[in-house]
Amino acid sequence: MKKKIIIAIDGHSSTGKSTMAKQLAKELGYVYVDTGAMYRAVALFAMKQGFIKSDFFDKQALINSLDQLSLSFIFNETRGFAEMYLNNENVEDQIRTLEVSAQVSVVAAVSEVRRLLVAQQQKMGEEKGIVMDGRDIGTVVFPNAELKLFVTASAEIRAKRRYDELLAKGEIVSYDEIFQNVVERDRIDSSRSDSPLVKAADAIEIDNSNLSREQQFELILKLAHERIG
Ligand code: DC
Repeated sequence: MKKKIIIAIDGHSSTGKSTMAKQLAKELGYVYVDTGAMYRAVALFAMKQGFIKSDFFDKQALINSLDQLSLSFIFNETRGFAEMYLNNENVEDQIRTLEVSAQVSVVAAVSEVRRLLVAQQQKMGEEKGIVMDGRDIGTVVFPNAELKLFVTASAEIRAKRRYDELLAKGEIVSYDEIFQNVVERDRIDSSRSDSPLVKAADAIEIDNSNLSREQQFELILKLAHERIG
């Protein structure tokens, strides 16, 4: 039987790392976990409870309510990936809106939230054979992961990709608003005191500004096979 490894994929928002991680997991027969979806679900929970609005955040109320929050992933055969459930409700589409994107970094900066989610993520990786993507997977969640990738691209290219994605879903959005959101999220994610977005010393950096999806996938599949042996 082949050795199973942990593949940690970190990097900036809208670099296409989720798509790449999902594809890699499928190819290897591994479990894929999108940890951003978990932070997004907590942000959605905070919004639904009225703990967070545009210029207001009752951090303590969120912390006090964390024990009422249950997160799970359930595989959707039709869509071919695991969807996010918040307290047994499928929130996969709700967590991808610009409203949630605008609030999630603030929620992800709360240490109590991070501690809760990191513990759940570590449990998911106990059996290995997992591809996990996020911001702190190679640094905090699995510092001993056999393969660590750090994916990045210019802010302009990332905003354009996100813009095209939302437009394709029929959302009416402005490029400038999305660009601002990308820059602001980078700033908050990289400057927060708890688990800021940093490249692990032993991570391999991939700047995909000028790489096609195929080129990038070929590269990471080769790296994965090298580590699996
Ligand atoms: O990958 P994403 O854009 O769906 O992530 C949503 C937010 O959650 C983003 O602001 C960064 C944060 N996040 C995090 O802090 N740690 C992770 N492991 C994953 C995401």
